[in-house]
Amino acid sequence: MFGFGAMIAKLKKDPKRIVLTEGSDPRILEAASRLLASNFLKPILLGTEEEIYSAAEEAGFNIRGAQIIDPSSYERIDEMAGQFYELRKSKGITPEMAKKTVLQGNYFGTMLVKMGEADCLLGGATYSTADTVRPALQIIKTKPGNKIVSSCFILVRPSATGENEVLAMADCAINIKPTEDELVEIAHETIECGKIFGIDPKVAFLSYSTFGSGQGEDLDKMKNAAEKTKEICPDVLIDGELQFDAAVSPRVARQKAPDSPVAGYANVFIFPDINSGNIGYKIAQRLGNFEAYGPILLGLNAQVNDLSRGCNALEVYSMAIITAALS
Ligand SMILES: CC(C)(COP(=O)(O)OP(=O)(O)OC[C@H]1O[C@@H](n2cnc3c(N)ncnc32)[C@H](O)[C@@H]1OP(=O)(O)O)[C@@H](O)C(=O)NCCC(=O)NCCS
Repeated sequence: MFGFGAMIAKLKKDPKRIVLTEGSDPRILEAASRLLASNFLKPILLGTEEEIYSAAEEAGFNIRGAQIIDPSSYERIDEMAGQFYELRKSKGITPEMAKKTVLQGNYFGTMLVKMGEADCLLGGATYSTADTVRPALQIIKTKPGNKIVSSCFILVRPSATGENEVLAMADCAINIKPTEDELVEIAHETIECGKIFGIDPKVAFLSYSTFGSGQGEDLDKMKNAAEKTKEICPDVLIDGELQFDAAVSPRVARQKAPDSPVAGYANVFIFPDINSGNIGYKIAQRLGNFEAYGPILLGLNAQVNDLSRGCNALEVYSMAIITAALS
């Protein structure tokens, strides 16, 4: 797998505790058994010992050494419920509602991170994106200086020469219709995340228009967001608004955007909204033979990531390493 060597080396020096919320799912168990054998990550599986061990046995995975926590018999559950109540009482919840909420795996796991019992969390093998992300938004919250939580995908196309093509795309999973200033924050976070994956960022703010070939507020938003991002990231090549062909094809770029330092060679793509972003990364994945890693959540106080419900065990394993390495 691309670039995982450096992440694993980092984790070997400082193994992280990662909560896997769907503890008895066979894909989670397969990934956990592989992580346990490698010894650079400490999986915490949520569920009862009985259900987790019998699921592991049935699927044939050795999970000896995994920490298993059953929310319903957790010794600090009242303390956890109290902390959650304090966090959310302004939203009108009662102590009883708080207790009921933290007994749910997605909330319980997120509270383990909040309470320092775990470093990070990976969920979503069975929970929807919203059900994985909402507890993080409510409990872990946006880090200082950020206004929103957003996300990016890292896309990797392996090459026979060993020189993998690595791209970043955002926001394909969280913010449904980001504003101009939210796009600036999304781009800034994605640039920083892309660098961790070895991307030398050339950022295209995408649209249906290239430098005013069309007209309308949707493309003004992309153009203005590109200009604002240039101001806060003066060392990064950024341009927009650009059509996708002008962003990636040197031939089209020579025609449509000859003076752009980004056009033709973009590797970080900022989409106008979640519709275009989600469709865009899946086209790259399904028709372009890119492996897609994400959504990687950006802007939280601790690393929480979401799996696709269609994920396989290898994707869980990779996302667990990414989640822990970023935490
Ligand atoms: C992320 C998402 C789940 C949040 O929606 P929601 O649960 O309806 O959230 P709410 O609007 O009720 O907000 C819940 C809390 O999160 C906060 N919040 C919502 N979106 C946020 C964001 N992008 N960044 C930071 N905080 C956010 C709200 O301020 C609120 O905080 P509070 O309860 O402390 O006041 C929603 O934007 C969503 O569904 N996005 C699309 C997810 C999806 O389907 N992706 C495609 C598959 S990959």
